[in-house]
Amino acid sequence: MNNVQKVPTHKAPSEFGNGLSTASVLVVDDEPGIRNFIGKLLHPVVGRVEQAANAEIASRLLDTTHFDIVILDNVMPGTTGLSWLVEQRKLGFFADTILITAFADMDTAIEAMRAGAVDFVLKPFRSNQILNAVARCVDRVNLRRENYLLKYELASGNDLARSRLLGSSAVIQNIRTTLERAAPLPTPVLLTGDTGTGKEVAARALHVMSDRADKAFVPINCATISGDLIESELFGQIRQDAAGRTVRRDGVFMNANGGTLYLDEVIELPLDVQASLLRVIEHRKLRPVGSAREVPLDLRFIFATNGNLEDAVHQGKFREDLFHRINVLNICMPVLRDRIGDIKELALMFIQQIAKSLGVPPLTLSEGVLLNLSRYDWPGNVRELRNLIERSLIVGEWPAEFASDRNGLEVEAVDSLAAVERRHILTVLDACGGNRAEAGRRLGISRKTIDRKCAMWND
Ligand SMILES: Nc1ncnc2c1ncn2[C@@H]1O[C@H](COP(=O)(O)OP(=O)(O)OP(=O)(O)O)[C@@H](O)[C@H]1O
Ligand SMILES: [Mg+2]
Repeated sequence: MNNVQKVPTHKAPSEFGNGLSTASVLVVDDEPGIRNFIGKLLHPVVGRVEQAANAEIASRLLDTTHFDIVILDNVMPGTTGLSWLVEQRKLGFFADTILITAFADMDTAIEAMRAGAVDFVLKPFRSNQILNAVARCVDRVNLRRENYLLKYELASGNDLARSRLLGSSAVIQNIRTTLERAAPLPTPVLLTGDTGTGKEVAARALHVMSDRADKAFVPINCATISGDLIESELFGQIRQDAAGRTVRRDGVFMNANGGTLYLDEVIELPLDVQASLLRVIEHRKLRPVGSAREVPLDLRFIFATNGNLEDAVHQGKFREDLFHRINVLNICMPVLRDRIGDIKELALMFIQQIAKSLGVPPLTLSEGVLLNLSRYDWPGNVRELRNLIERSLIVGEWPAEFASDRNGLEVEAVDSLAAVERRHILTVLDACGGNRAEAGRRLGISRKTIDRKCAMWND
């Protein structure tokens, strides 16, 4: 027991929940003693704590920095904490607020609730009271955020292992390398490619490799939100409720703050929302609908579309300045028929994953089936392959057009040999980026042989 470190009694973060360590807190109090006391108390357990000696300094800090929580003294020279809070709410102030006060009368309590304070701590207080109030706030904020984000997570479908970009073809390997290089940078990434080619999988892979991996990945499909709601859905909204109180509703951007936002079908955004989005990307600040103040925002953007953005720009449907801003790094996901060498790996993985999750026995992937899978065109790309496998596992057999043993054992044996050869040659060709001379060298056969075989398979 000689290595045990002394843990100061009030500092153990787990005692107050884990979310605390990333929270940012602003302490607003005109008394330096109390400010410093709270600052010192929170410093070891929260991500960041800053102090403001008066309302004016506090307002300036809110303009430039995002805080999850504000601890606010009610009695300050020139104003009360609560009237400052009401003002700030109108400007579009987003943090949860804990009020500290020496006077615990009913009027102040009601006023605090009206102003939107979420907690109340009486002076003089003990350190645990402050820590508990902050921990409760963080829990509430996280819970609200998780609940909110869950609907987007569910809407994007929840199949397993979505952040694993499978495939060993040359093009997928290149994409994986590009994703690895882009992951630590703040640069926006634009993923293009046909439906089902794995744009979202690539986006999740990028997120998981980035330093935001432990924060939220929020997928949102711009095509599924109706035009008049989309601005407040994305950017949030400040408005007066029936009782005249200023209330706020955080949008997707605020809820994803700190994490990665995956904006799918970005081509569908209305033009005015495109303009707001451009401002958000350029200034890293967000102005909720109805708000006078911009809120600082820390988001990694990944965009995707299976439409043609350049065409949309020419047709005046997509802003050119936004296009250039998001088209810094464009990764185009290849269609499956251009990388049939990956079909085996994908199919084996899907069989294993889906059989396990459905609790059904796996199907065998014979060379014959693999050959048939390789011959098919896959207009729906990897998604179609995945769906075919899921369907086959439920039925318990491969569909007739893909099954290998329709013509009996003998044919299967012959079929199988040809299939092995074909698949091997195509895989090597794929790895050489389609260069037949290079593939021939690697395989130890002539380029002519490859030409002949390819011509035969294309018949
Ligand atoms: N390289 C890959 N590795 C593993 N699974 C993949 C891969 N590519 C696609 N998938 C699977 O295929 C399905 C479709 O992928 P995804 O949703 O990423 O496609 P998409 O390009 O976003 O399509 P859409 O344009 O229709 O939105 C998912 O079930 C995903 O798990
Ligand atoms: Mg998608």
